[in-house]
Amino acid sequence: MWEIRFDSNALRPKYAFIKNAAVWSKLLSQWARVKMKFQSFLFLMQNNIFIHWRVRKIILQFAGLKIGNNTIIEPQCSFASANIEFGNDVYVNKCFFVDGFGLCRIGSHVRIGPGVKLITSTHDITNNPMARASHDVKHFPITIEDGVWLGSSSIVLPGCIVRTGCVVGAGALITRDTEPNGLYLGVPARRVRDLPISAAGGGNPG
Ligand SMILES: CC(C)(COP(=O)(O)OP(=O)(O)OC[C@H]1O[C@@H](n2cnc3c(N)ncnc32)[C@H](O)[C@@H]1OP(=O)(O)O)[C@@H](O)C(=O)NCCC(=O)NCCS
Repeated sequence: MWEIRFDSNALRPKYAFIKNAAVWSKLLSQWARVKMKFQSFLFLMQNNIFIHWRVRKIILQFAGLKIGNNTIIEPQCSFASANIEFGNDVYVNKCFFVDGFGLCRIGSHVRIGPGVKLITSTHDITNNPMARASHDVKHFPITIEDGVWLGSSSIVLPGCIVRTGCVVGAGALITRDTEPNGLYLGVPARRVRDLPISAAGGGNPG
């Protein structure tokens, strides 16, 4: 008599191995590594001074950045991740630096002077001197609201919100949230003047 045997291996789908969690996690980590390397390559490429700003914008958008209409990013700016969003009509001058840990949200009609730094990460100061520079990195988002002008070489520290219509003078250090429509100067930055509000008065990028 014929004997019918059930061979479970023969019926197993060809790609059944991908059910294996270890294989999945390896594939995912390799994919993440390839993606990160490609993103770093794009960030390096956009730096080139010979690239037109429209091309730079496309490269950065391809790398994952959200960039609004009429937003111009000059060369030699440093992006470490796609953790940054630009609104419309933003002008970013040369040597802008974002550390890429926490999310940075930049509103519309913002001007960013040369050499501005947005720092989203920090660590607690521990008692162990050997661990002070490496202890638990924390990151906090930064928000630059609509109509802000960040003067040349100003620095915004983790978690700060620069509220709408503020002007931050060259070299100022923003260590806490600002109130709207004020001129902030110095290290640490202090509000030195309320700025008048009127729809009159235009301007050029710069
Ligand atoms: C913020 C800024 C616009 C202020 O201009 P302003 O209102 O005309 O101020 P003034 O030049 O009249 O200076 C007023 C006082 O603030 C001081 N001051 C001006 N800018 C300062 C700054 N960045 N940091 C500290 N103090 C500053 C001046 O020394 C002056 O002090 P005093 O009254 O004791 O003499 C200007 O100084 C600035 O920082 N501009 C940014 C330039 C820049 O980054 N350009 C790049 C193009 S995006």
